[in-house]
Amino acid sequence: MKPYLIAPSILSADFSKLGEEVDKVLAAGADIVHFDVMDNHYVPNLTIGPLVCKALRKYGITADIDVHLMVKPVDDMIKQFADAGASYISFHPEASQHVDRSLQLIIDSGCKPGLVFNPATPLQHLDHVMHKLHHILLMSVNPGFGGQSFIPQTLEKLLQTRALIDQSGFDIRLEIDGGVKVDNIRAIAEAGADMFVAGSAIFDQADYQLVIEQMRSELALVN
Ligand code: DX5
Ligand code: ZN
Repeated sequence: MKPYLIAPSILSADFSKLGEEVDKVLAAGADIVHFDVMDNHYVPNLTIGPLVCKALRKYGITADIDVHLMVKPVDDMIKQFADAGASYISFHPEASQHVDRSLQLIIDSGCKPGLVFNPATPLQHLDHVMHKLHHILLMSVNPGFGGQSFIPQTLEKLLQTRALIDQSGFDIRLEIDGGVKVDNIRAIAEAGADMFVAGSAIFDQADYQLVIEQMRSELALVN
């Protein structure tokens, strides 16, 4: 198993001082920055685009930026986010006309590709593309908003996905996104996740470092 990565979702950060917030959460021990892109079309909310990613790079953020595209169509946004300094880019298979082509676009633009599964999206979309994936992101809430509750059925889906990854022999990270908290992160890791998005659990607390330390303490107990 790879080292665990904690990826705060800046969706719950204070956007009026985003650069400082990202600096602060990285200084508090976060590994990478999770960047939620919503278009009010694929999901019922509107957030941030490539200009903001570029601004964070210009501000001096050097950590990996994990761009989660909740947009349809996806291909043009892939190019724009790669140019804006994204490190990882993932998208939802339902939002792409040609999943293999979109994955290849991410690879060709020098970023690490991921495929995202909504709670009710079947894992069959993994067939035939495992060899192209850097990460698989399982949504444990329906996409669109921070602060929702973890859907417990995702634990079973994590186990299934972990088994598929292990059977494939490919070196693919398994990311979880939605409702991740100090009190469930251990069970989520035990089900197979190794990259943890957490928005409200971190940014809604005054002391980011304390939350991240608590999460790491829970992860240290994983069987
Ligand atoms: C939801 C986003 C998530 C969200 C997570 O569509 O993809 O990244 O911000 O937020 P929490 O951790 O608050 O559930
Ligand atoms: Zn996300």
